[in-house]
Amino acid sequence: MTLGQADVVTYDVAAVRAHFPALDAGYAHFDGPGGSQVPRAVAEAVAGALVAPLANRGRVTAGERAADEIVVAARRAVADLLGADPGGVVFGRSMTQITFDFARTLAATWAPGDEVVVSSLDHDANVRPWLIAAEAVGAEVRWAEFDPATAELSADAVAAVLSPRTRLVAVTAASNLLGTCPPVRAIADLAHDAGALVYVDAVHAAAHLPLHIDSLGADFLVCSPYKFLGPHCGVLAAAPALLEELRPQKLLPSTNVVPERFELGTLPYELLAGTTAAIDFLAGLGTGASRRDRLVTAMSAIGAHEDRLRRRIEDGLAALPGVTVLSRAAQRTPTLLATFADRDPADAYAFLAERGVHAPAGSFYALEPSRRLGLGDTGALRIGLAPYVDDNDVDRLLGGLAEFLGV
Ligand SMILES: Cc1ncc(COP(=O)(O)O)c(C=O)c1O
Repeated sequence: MTLGQADVVTYDVAAVRAHFPALDAGYAHFDGPGGSQVPRAVAEAVAGALVAPLANRGRVTAGERAADEIVVAARRAVADLLGADPGGVVFGRSMTQITFDFARTLAATWAPGDEVVVSSLDHDANVRPWLIAAEAVGAEVRWAEFDPATAELSADAVAAVLSPRTRLVAVTAASNLLGTCPPVRAIADLAHDAGALVYVDAVHAAAHLPLHIDSLGADFLVCSPYKFLGPHCGVLAAAPALLEELRPQKLLPSTNVVPERFELGTLPYELLAGTTAAIDFLAGLGTGASRRDRLVTAMSAIGAHEDRLRRRIEDGLAALPGVTVLSRAAQRTPTLLATFADRDPADAYAFLAERGVHAPAGSFYALEPSRRLGLGDTGALRIGLAPYVDDNDVDRLLGGLAEFLGV
């Protein structure tokens, strides 16, 4: 990557692509919001952890120390990515698993009649765990509704359902279906004024935007490394002092210290090594004195690259007959959701796949937004971008769709 002056990073997509062995298979990948491809360095870090002596975390043997150092390094890396305290970084199998665990833990502090706010813009992983947890303790659920016409979730929509009984607001930093980035900071300020905690789903956002837990106003920030070039695991960041207040269910012999208290069983050390490698890879695309600085500049450069391609795709789709793009929010990631007049998005998905273009159709577990958009549970065609997508991929996508539509 070419480093420019100050905050300017020249983005060389060909140089980036050379790091991704999976691209040799020839697919054009517009499936980034489902999961990204992985740089060689990440795969090597995973393998490297496994081929060296490795044991359960400890300080006596080399294998124990290796596991310990992998965990400490991964917490630091995630902390740099999210602007968080490494002492409040919790690893888990997935964002879904972590959210179920935290919902159960937080709900144990709720009383009947307390309220939890969820949004109709959110992935089901930031909805269902809260509904189930609320029901178990007799808490009420309040829905903040997004506007299907604009694809926006406003702070007013959240304000309308807050009350002095609100204990938690669960909201996404970016919709994996529409790309919408709600005004999380404004929502968090309102929630905090009402005395509620704020649980932010950054799974989609973390792949596209520089994030900072305090700037967002998030009490809990969750994401999944496999969406940003890393391996399949999940991570939560929170202030250690807040985590100290919570009492998760745990085994008797397992440690009660934070953040380990929340990590049930043995951590996947190899995946944590891969997570650090993914964050280091991203940082390597940026410039600055610290890894945090490099990550912020890298994510801005990736965002600029992806936004340029997104505009190309939008212009191309606008020129095709019968295509409607539902991603309209003013603030959004480069994720487009499209429908076709008289054509099934699943047929477009299959047609493109035969031509080596991966742009899936579905609702992608974003069940509530899909239903609210009138798309039912089957959804639409999602076109997502990733750091390795280039203009040639966009040509193939637009050419494939033109062929599908017979133009
Ligand atoms: C916005 C969003 N939230 C949550 C999830 C669930 O993440 P995980 O697969 O780590 O459970 C996803 C996965 O697609 C997502 O896109």
